[in-house]
Amino acid sequence: KTRVLTGITTTGTPHLGNYVGAIKPAIAASQDPSVQSYYFLADLHALIKCQDPRRVQDSRLEIAATWLALGLDTDNAIFYRQSDIPEIPELTWMLSCVCAKGLMNRAHAYKAAVAENEAADNQDPDKGITMGLFGYPVLMAADILMFNANKVPVGRDQIQHIEMARDMGGRFNHLYRGEFFTLPEAVVDDDVAVLGGLDGRKMSKSYNNTIPLFVSDKKLLKLVRKIKTNSLEPGEPKDPEGCTLFQIYSAFSNREEREAMRGEYANGIGWGEVKNRLFELLNEQLREPRERYIALMEDPGHIESVLLKGAERARAEAAPFMDRLRGAVGLGRFV
Ligand code: TYM
Repeated sequence: KTRVLTGITTTGTPHLGNYVGAIKPAIAASQDPSVQSYYFLADLHALIKCQDPRRVQDSRLEIAATWLALGLDTDNAIFYRQSDIPEIPELTWMLSCVCAKGLMNRAHAYKAAVAENEAADNQDPDKGITMGLFGYPVLMAADILMFNANKVPVGRDQIQHIEMARDMGGRFNHLYRGEFFTLPEAVVDDDVAVLGGLDGRKMSKSYNNTIPLFVSDKKLLKLVRKIKTNSLEPGEPKDPEGCTLFQIYSAFSNREEREAMRGEYANGIGWGEVKNRLFELLNEQLREPRERYIALMEDPGHIESVLLKGAERARAEAAPFMDRLRGAVGLGRFV
């Protein structure tokens, strides 16, 4: 079976970008009988960005409830918390010991943090940067390599990390002379690679421009109305390319609806009307999952038991694999 794996960092409330970029394709993949899927809450990653325990704890529950509300079948997919699998940090250490520091110097998240320090004229370019942030791609590589994932569906921002995982896996295989790790491939949906947010930049918790998946219909309408547009009036033809409203509309509609909307743009539909139609589309698709989400959030015991079952299945693979890796590097038992 093809192994498909992906995770979401548990630092915020899941938004439309997470759904389109990760959750939706992942749930679709998990319904394919030729696929074994591994989906997890990247809660160890959360500690890099967030030292507010309440936020981390709430976000884990919200994100778990989101996957379940959107229809993840946990009999098929192996669904777990990263922090329930102690083999993952152990593998992170082994990979750290074969990973070149120079490779990490090139990681986007680290480079962005250094660039920010330089822009602020800080004496120390590494100011405020933890080893957690610096080594973030190693932990992510361990997530992926631990389960020998073939395919990793992600948004475009994560491609570099998958390549780094290939690099580390390949290096380990070479050094210890064996085919221990499968080298993973990123899967990116080209149509909706990076969903824009309220201000037109990438929809992201860090930009504070997100539309959460399960807000009330009132709030959803309010947020959709906030999406930035240009100042073209009704009656003036509009360009769908590069338009956030059109992009989000496309991500949630079928081909026919999308082409019809493209025609409306050419005919000069007003922005207010586009927003109304986008709201209707989103609300229709999110109404039922939203109800399931609310019910799930009131039953954390159920979510806990689903995740523990997932962790048990994941560890049934991770523990023996880790034994093999220990043996490979010279940390096996004496007898
Ligand atoms: P994270 O939590 O930032 O995002 C989770 C997933 O959502 C995608 N995404 C988007 N896609 C389209 N448009 C957007 N605006 C948008 N915003 C977010 C991301 O590309 C990602 O696929 N490091 C990862 C989590 C992780 C992981 C892994 C992923 C940890 N270990 C192993 C895959 C495999 C992250 O921070 O994603």
